[in-house]
Amino acid sequence: MAIQVVKANVLGFCFGVRRAVELAEKALLENPEKNVYSLGPLIHNQIALKNLCDKGMIIVNEDEIARIKNESVVIIRAHGCSPDILRELEKKSCLIVDATCPRVKNSQKIVEKKTNDDAFVILTGDSNHGEVKGIAGFAKDNFALIQNADEAEKFVLPVDVKSVVLLSQTTFNVSEFENVSKILTKMIPSLEIINSICPATKERQEALFDLCDSVDGIIVIGGKNSANTIRLFKIAQQNCKNVIHVESACEIPQEFFALEKVGITAGASTPDEIIQEVYASLLNCQL
Ligand code: F3S
Repeated sequence: MAIQVVKANVLGFCFGVRRAVELAEKALLENPEKNVYSLGPLIHNQIALKNLCDKGMIIVNEDEIARIKNESVVIIRAHGCSPDILRELEKKSCLIVDATCPRVKNSQKIVEKKTNDDAFVILTGDSNHGEVKGIAGFAKDNFALIQNADEAEKFVLPVDVKSVVLLSQTTFNVSEFENVSKILTKMIPSLEIINSICPATKERQEALFDLCDSVDGIIVIGGKNSANTIRLFKIAQQNCKNVIHVESACEIPQEFFALEKVGITAGASTPDEIIQEVYASLLNCQL
């Protein structure tokens, strides 16, 4: 019997990652004679990254800027980076291809403007995340990072603060942000809350949740190092009996080809070609 394969209503590349990959492809095409660097891995997907590196892209970490040759092309990934880094690259006369996601850029602008206006800004997020480090670089000293509700409970606001603003890393957990907001509002009743969490993650999770009930198995496609793909995998495991996380079509276990109806979803950094390859492989390679 033929397998039915159903894609989640929302899956794969988010707007910011698609834009970053397109800008990188364009930079590589237009600058064949120059070194083209990505500041940090452009995308959390090894296959997509290898494709770009095969076309000439070189990955350097933010603490390795000394390795970048003068007058090179440097792509800033969707997470963005701090203004200090941009200044260092300008000193090297690099051509900067700014693929910072517009949503992240918006947070950077808010933090810059509010701290310049002497408001105290609190950002919720993960201290090790590239986006958070970049945004923090736009703030003056009147800034604090809070990683979770426990840290919010312990937070002490400096004295003589004019006003306080709270915003978040774009991919921060929605309920944790709500918890932190509640705790801080009790402490600071005039707190201005700006919800800067990107809906892309939630949309993929909701579409997957809707799919789980109507299929016999779910294939989650995406990098094993992609946090949002791992979250999709966990949601699928909680709501469906047969679930597998694959990076490419060749990892689909044989038993999935024996199911009647298979659902597929993919993380925000999974390219369309890989999703299509998994889809076609299920349809074409039936037992
Ligand atoms: Fe941008 Fe949201 Fe993707 S912030 S990079 S569109 S997850």
